[in-house]
Amino acid sequence: MIKILNVVGARPNFMKIAPIQRAMGNYPEIKPILVHTGQHYDERMSKFFFNDLQLPQPDIYLGVGSGTHAEQTAKIMVHFEKVVQEEKPDLVIVVGDVNSTAACSMVAAKMNTKIAHVEAGLRSFDRTMPEEINRLVTDVLSDFLFVTEKSGLENLKREGIADSKVHFVGHVMIDSLIYFKPMAEKSNILDKLNLEPKSYGVITLHRPSNVDNKENFEKLLNAFEQIEKRLPLIFPIHPRSQKMIDQFGLRSKVERMKNLQLLDPLGYLDFMKLLHNAKLVLTDSGGIQEETTYLGIPCITMRENTERPITVEVGTNVLVGTDTQRIVEEAEKVLDGKAKNGQIPELWDGHAAERIVKIIYEVLS
Ligand code: UD1
Repeated sequence: MIKILNVVGARPNFMKIAPIQRAMGNYPEIKPILVHTGQHYDERMSKFFFNDLQLPQPDIYLGVGSGTHAEQTAKIMVHFEKVVQEEKPDLVIVVGDVNSTAACSMVAAKMNTKIAHVEAGLRSFDRTMPEEINRLVTDVLSDFLFVTEKSGLENLKREGIADSKVHFVGHVMIDSLIYFKPMAEKSNILDKLNLEPKSYGVITLHRPSNVDNKENFEKLLNAFEQIEKRLPLIFPIHPRSQKMIDQFGLRSKVERMKNLQLLDPLGYLDFMKLLHNAKLVLTDSGGIQEETTYLGIPCITMRENTERPITVEVGTNVLVGTDTQRIVEEAEKVLDGKAKNGQIPELWDGHAAERIVKIIYEVLS
């Protein structure tokens, strides 16, 4: 029996682990154990995703919650160490770049347990981003590095990671997108919000550099204020950004925008439906740059850099930073029918998880 701990912690992890759990179902010799660190704990950030993604209840829930980076990372490590001690797994699988990813990798490495990192090799080259630190730490400790795009191969080579550990497999998040598309189509979110396809834009915003800084947050809101005059905007808001709007006294500014609708965070299927039918997307997320590229929806990324360059090189993504005028100009291009066309990147075909589990099985059995 091959015992594998599949680790999740935060919202962007759930749709990445779901296809891996499913693919493991085809191998009777593999025993997957789902561990949720509890980094995200609100129903809307966690439980709803488990339901939508048909994930089983976590076998082990660590309940670590929020805190400073050191507090959160340390709490995850203390709890996860006990899990590894008890379960003695053959492999720990971590996905993405959140604090749970790096914390569990560090624990596994020190306990001489093999690690697989899914979504390895991505680099923004911006170490002010907490995720960049998490990516560097996780990759250097991993035994299997599963890469989503070619840039990841180049980055890992440059960093001296042995080729034999690195596997270009495509993207498990796109596996979920493809698998759940028919179910997402049945979501009634457009009716609920009274929206016609292609008649609205979607905003997501949560990066500390954008929402924990009043000046930057205001510059973005100023852009939304101009865009909403031409296009209704739907903004399912992350708890962190919601909190900062009040802290910075920006609530009245947001409420003045009659064409901007703030919503609580949406579940996976509703959000995919909303994304698929959007005229454009304004975001600072990592994964949404990729989901829009797959769906062919224009994506305006309000960041100075991206660790996912393929979405700009071949996809529909445009990097605009936080300059109000740049953001408005790009949105106007889309509204004037001059949106950038894109293609689907190599191996984003819905079968990444199957490739990953096959490789793991062949090496470990
Ligand atoms: C985390 C990830 C980020 C990812 C994002 C997706 C890290 C360093 N960051 O950022 O890469 O893009 O998740 O959402 O791991 N909060 C709640 N309820 C929750 C979770 C968070 O209210 O269920 C609030 C708390 O006030 C908390 C804050 O959001 O302090 C930040 O949560 P945290 O998990 O530290 O980071 P995210 O900003 O969510």
